[in-house]
Amino acid sequence: MKSKYEGKSAIVTGGSSGIGRSLALQLVQMGCDVAIVARRPGLLDEARVAMEGVRQRPEQKILARAMDISQQGDVEAGVSALTGELGRVDLLFNNAGVAYCDYFENTDPAVFEKMMQINYFGTVWMTRAVLPQMRARNAGHLVNVTSILGVMSIVGYTAYAASKFAIHGFSDALRNELADTAIQMSLVMPPDTDTPQYEEENKTKPPETKAIAGSAKLMSADDVARLTLKGVAAGRYHILPGKMDLKMIHLAATTTPNIMRFFVDRDVRNFRKKKRLS
Ligand SMILES: NC(=O)c1ccc[n+]([C@@H]2O[C@H](COP(=O)([O-])OP(=O)(O)OC[C@H]3O[C@@H](n4cnc5c(N)ncnc54)[C@H](OP(=O)(O)O)[C@@H]3O)[C@@H](O)[C@H]2O)c1
Repeated sequence: MKSKYEGKSAIVTGGSSGIGRSLALQLVQMGCDVAIVARRPGLLDEARVAMEGVRQRPEQKILARAMDISQQGDVEAGVSALTGELGRVDLLFNNAGVAYCDYFENTDPAVFEKMMQINYFGTVWMTRAVLPQMRARNAGHLVNVTSILGVMSIVGYTAYAASKFAIHGFSDALRNELADTAIQMSLVMPPDTDTPQYEEENKTKPPETKAIAGSAKLMSADDVARLTLKGVAAGRYHILPGKMDLKMIHLAATTTPNIMRFFVDRDVRNFRKKKRLS
């Protein structure tokens, strides 16, 4: 797997926290030049120092840039500057994202816009900015991080899941558009992962959502990043960096969605019935 990354250059959005931070650190450890992108300078700098700590070569490039991926102007200028510093971009990890989980009626209209602006448009603007130089070289790999909720969604995720479905549709279309090129694409669907984002969404998560998710064990960001990089190196399009249960959910959601709907609807009804009786 190291040969996919050694001597290559990558941009990781959301590289200052959670899964993105783990991706960036592991890429540096495999000898890749890495630029991370996020908004908060303090977290970015802390991650950059951690990346410096695992650098493999004195000339290896380790960069951090404060950028809001939802702002197309910021992205165009930022990616152009980073591409200049890196020399080229072999891999783009569109990982940055925000989450929110609550009942539809409790979800502020601004949250719907924010999810689309950051999760969906952030992915589109970054891809627009990076793709031309990949086209010119007929090489490169675009990696879009979505979620299993971008295949089949459940109570609480009206705003978040819509933005992840949008990434899914965007990626399927672009993958097909690039079919006659050597540019590769991957779509990553992480399971519940122990990160600040997961902690944040838990603050408003409805009990029905928790009941459906059950007692599935949280993955670590390091494990999700490692399995993601393994899947990207293997050239896989759908990457499910989790245990067998994640793969089974994806298989059931894509092949027998009616059965999946039966179970999640039953869980919601049973939960509410129990609540009424208690
Ligand atoms: N954790 C899970 O359970 C889980 C499950 C499925 C999918 N995912 C997906 O995996 C990806 C990473 O999630 P995570 O859990 O690792 O999240 P996280 O720890 O909260 O990290 C999110 C990263 O994105 C950056 N970011 C957010 N908004 C941004 C913006 N407008 N411009 C630039 N950077 C921005 C954040 O930095 P700033 O806030 O400083 O900008 C941070 O570096 C997301 O796409 C998420 O939806 C996560």
